[in-house]
Amino acid sequence: MTRTLRIIGIGAGDPRQVTLQALDAMAGVDAFFVLDKGAEKDSLVAVRRQICDEHLGVGAYRVVEIADPPRDRQPVDYDAEVLRWHDARAQRISAALRTELPEGGVGAILVWGDPALYDSTLRIAEAIAAGGEVALALQVIPGVTSASALTAAHGISANRIGEPITITTGRRLADTPPGADTNQIVMLDADCTFRRTADPDDHIWWGAYLGMDHEILIAGTVAQVGEQIAERRARARAEHGWIMDIYLLRKRR
Ligand SMILES: C[S@@+](CC[C@H](N)C(=O)[O-])C[C@H]1O[C@@H](n2cnc3c(N)ncnc32)[C@H](O)[C@@H]1O
Repeated sequence: MTRTLRIIGIGAGDPRQVTLQALDAMAGVDAFFVLDKGAEKDSLVAVRRQICDEHLGVGAYRVVEIADPPRDRQPVDYDAEVLRWHDARAQRISAALRTELPEGGVGAILVWGDPALYDSTLRIAEAIAAGGEVALALQVIPGVTSASALTAAHGISANRIGEPITITTGRRLADTPPGADTNQIVMLDADCTFRRTADPDDHIWWGAYLGMDHEILIAGTVAQVGEQIAERRARARAEHGWIMDIYLLRKRR
């Protein structure tokens, strides 16, 4: 019999971003599968627990923790290493689904932001379903992405009238072709890469820990606030032990 796996977007940090659809999906779950990513991500695991405690009741849900396989952060071949790591994750999740979820049962993975954006859970779940070791029906529930949390926090639109928007990562920022760089939303950038790629009069709207108690927002031209963002980011990371930040870069007209 088929097991069901729900991939549920839970928003980008503010527990009030959990949608009614996500709550409906969480209600009938037999086990929540959590990849334990170590101390750095403890706060993020805590937000997930807080959401479950609040909406399902303390102790009224089952959590299965899966140790995240080790990952090489400085690989020679980035894409090959990510594929290898995803495969190792898929094997661990597949084994946990078989042993911890009865046939016909419903499992769930709570995903940060929206599952479709820079998150491997959906790809891994599709690989498990295609692999055939466990018969799996996938259900995906969208979530409020950090890109929306950023633009809302600054009270801005992601684009001016009719303009395109590129969503990319710090690692790929330098590869954005001219014309696609009018409005760029950049995730996963530990190096403040905009300092190397942007023009001084590009505008940047930056946000860290969006929706959380220690949210930080800075906006201005890159010339005005670029160094301030890098310095503030380093300080906040040292203070909290981890950071999640995102920014919108916009070309001047
Ligand atoms: C692995 S990606 C996941 C993105 C997620 N699926 C989404 O829709 O927001 C992690 C990146 O999302 C961004 N991010 C997620 N939550 C954030 C938050 N609360 N504040 C700032 N950036 C955040 C950061 O750029 C972080 O490096």
